Amino acid sequence: MINAIKVEQLTKKFGNINAVDNISFEVKKGEFFGFLGPNGAGKTTTIRILTGIINATSGKVSIMNHDIGRHKLEAKKLMGVIPEVSNAYMDLSGWINMMFQGELYGLHRKELYALSKELLIDFDLYSRKDQKVKFYSKGMKQRLIICMALLNRPEILFLDEPTSGLDVSSTFMIREKIRNINSGGTTIFLTTHNMEEASQMCERIVIINKGRIAAVNSPENLKLTVKKLQSIIVAFDRDMDKKSVYSLPGVKDVEKVGDKMRIFTEIPGELVFHLVDFARENDLKILTLNTLTPSLEDVFLKLTKEGNG
Ligand SMILES: Nc1ncnc2c1ncn2[C@@H]1O[C@H](COP(=O)(O)OP(=O)(O)OP(=O)(O)O)[C@@H](O)[C@H]1O
Ligand SMILES: [Mg+2]
Repeated sequence: MINAIKVEQLTKKFGNINAVDNISFEVKKGEFFGFLGPNGAGKTTTIRILTGIINATSGKVSIMNHDIGRHKLEAKKLMGVIPEVSNAYMDLSGWINMMFQGELYGLHRKELYALSKELLIDFDLYSRKDQKVKFYSKGMKQRLIICMALLNRPEILFLDEPTSGLDVSSTFMIREKIRNINSGGTTIFLTTHNMEEASQMCERIVIINKGRIAAVNSPENLKLTVKKLQSIIVAFDRDMDKKSVYSLPGVKDVEKVGDKMRIFTEIPGELVFHLVDFARENDLKILTLNTLTPSLEDVFLKLTKEGNG
């Protein structure tokens, strides 16, 4: 199987900040790939290197076997980019933006007209095509920049937080479209903070933290690898010291969550009995008790906690 993207020992320094710190990974052709990390993790910097906007300090990036450093033009012809900050001209209409973008890609006028019309209809923008982009809603602007990126008929689509700040229906529509684009064979490289989004959409995920890779796996495997993150949420009728719960058999960690305690364990079934005994011995009442399996969000928080990168 050909790699759509191959990243080897990539590093980017800004002064003494290592924004990207010696990362390596591969994305298979046709894969729906997620690139996750907290604010400042290095996601946008990585996308900007992969799409040839900035140069790496060291390391190598291949896009369908084209070295982005040496064969930038060939590599760029294969990609569509939806950047973190909109690249549309606000004082021009959606249609004119499409025309500009298409000319940059070297499309012939007839083809450009037809494809622009098709895309704008598909993304529900055609009736507003002659209005200036500054009058578009945030969701409309985002849909327009996706249309602009698709004019290139890309083999790889890079999306930097495409649904950030959008409402439920715009988010739903954009996710649906991206899924369809992927079904048509396009490789997707998606960055997001949104665990739910990554879990629903991606086949494989890299979690990056402080410029370094903290994990690479499928969403389900990531959840499985953190059995330790199974937990019990319990509320007693009196405030209890964390330490006293710590000493119970099988407890890995205890967190206070509002008026409840979240107790991490690999043996939630057994711990329930210990908690019942504990309550009896201390003359406590258990008000609520629930067991939780780890979510991708738990995995993410665990892997990106201070000092755990
Ligand atoms: N042009 C630049 N000059 C100096 N520092 C930069 C520059 N671009 C990024 N950085 C720094 O590199 C680090 C990574 O930033 P980056 O924008 O890649 O993070 P991110 O994962 O995309 O974050 P966010 O989720 O907030 O978008 C940060 O510490 C940032 O301040
Ligand atoms: Mg970013």
